[in-house]
Amino acid sequence: MGKRSRRSLYRRLVEELAIWERLDLSQKGIVVDYGCGDGWLARKLAIQGFRVVGVDVDKGFLDSARKILPPEGMSLVLYQGGVLPIKAESVDLVLAVGVVRSLLDRGPLEGAISEWRRCLRPRGRVLLIETDNTPLRRYMGIQQVPEALENWGFRKLAWYPIRRTSWWGLRLVKWGLLPPHLMSLLARWELSRRRLEPVQSKAKRAYLGEFERK
Ligand SMILES: C[S@@+](CC[C@H](N)C(=O)[O-])C[C@H]1O[C@@H](n2cnc3c(N)ncnc32)[C@H](O)[C@@H]1O
Repeated sequence: MGKRSRRSLYRRLVEELAIWERLDLSQKGIVVDYGCGDGWLARKLAIQGFRVVGVDVDKGFLDSARKILPPEGMSLVLYQGGVLPIKAESVDLVLAVGVVRSLLDRGPLEGAISEWRRCLRPRGRVLLIETDNTPLRRYMGIQQVPEALENWGFRKLAWYPIRRTSWWGLRLVKWGLLPPHLMSLLARWELSRRRLEPVQSKAKRAYLGEFERK
């Protein structure tokens, strides 16, 4: 496994833990994984009993998501922009992991947010994770991400850092100096620690946000 794959595996470990903490496992509803990529998260949720629709604009990603047989309860949709092929007010949760910057590259962010809002039932939730990095900063500061959702009909329930994009622990991961079980321990430790860091800190971090449809 190369440096990039180890880094990406670690990123997914932290993100999965962070999302799991916010899910209500007693109420397994309908989830849209918007910008699902290769479907790694959609698959995990479907295995836990959620009904998940993975949506992506990139056919290549969806093809790789289909390479491993999708579990029961998981479907994949190639999205070509405009109105999502999902009934209004039918969805309990929209996941958007690493998607905001991609949306800023491709088209109006507001268009996507208003589609999330249309599909969500009243008081349905959006869980998003976004990384404060140079490509995002070309468009907006990380703290403007929750503002965008608040401006488009969502109430902020949570917004906190979950991991740093550069620190000694990540260097150990990248150089392959940690066995897998220590990687997940490090991910847990990092998640518990980062959320206590002040939002104003200058370190570049990924954030988790939870928003409720008003
Ligand atoms: C950085 S990747 C994240 C993928 C996945 N969520 C993950 O965590 O690995 C961003 C994804 O958003 C998708 N995307 C970009 N614009 C989109 C749009 N308008 N609608 C749906 N998906 C979009 C891209 O094709 C890509 O798969």
